[in-house]
Amino acid sequence: MPKILVIHGPNLDLLGTREVGIYGEITIDEINGELRQAAKRGNVDIEIIQSNHEGEIVDIIGKAKKNKVCAILINPAAYTHTSVAIRDAIAASGVPAVEVHLSNIYAREEFRHTSLIAPVAKGQVSGFGKTSYLLGLEAAILLAKK
Ligand code: DQA
Repeated sequence: MPKILVIHGPNLDLLGTREVGIYGEITIDEINGELRQAAKRGNVDIEIIQSNHEGEIVDIIGKAKKNKVCAILINPAAYTHTSVAIRDAIAASGVPAVEVHLSNIYAREEFRHTSLIAPVAKGQVSGFGKTSYLLGLEAAILLAKK
């Protein structure tokens, strides 16, 4: 079965208690549960990680091809707006990536309007809460099966 790697970036482990007015009350475990179910229905293997560390995310993306990952679903969180290293890792990986955000980054502070990741992603879903992840996973499944 094609394998999809899901990467949650910094502070997403705090979902459920973190700025609930913006991100809602859903926890990362609840999101992961829905992703696992959707992956099962889509007949793909799924591996999910969360990291607060830029270098660790770079390392994981760097090993994706070798680990037979067919597509990456990533919420780079704050690193979306700052990380040339994660952008370069995605570009170098040769693995298609889908970028997702719970909130609509274009409707928030100006510093969130720029994604360094978007130009190297296949596409982006932003603003639909957990549905951003589920829509992004659908796209990642299509890319993984291509
Ligand atoms: C986020 C948006 C980012 O701007 C922010 O730094 C996050 C979460 C989102 O999912 O809406 O941590 O990626």
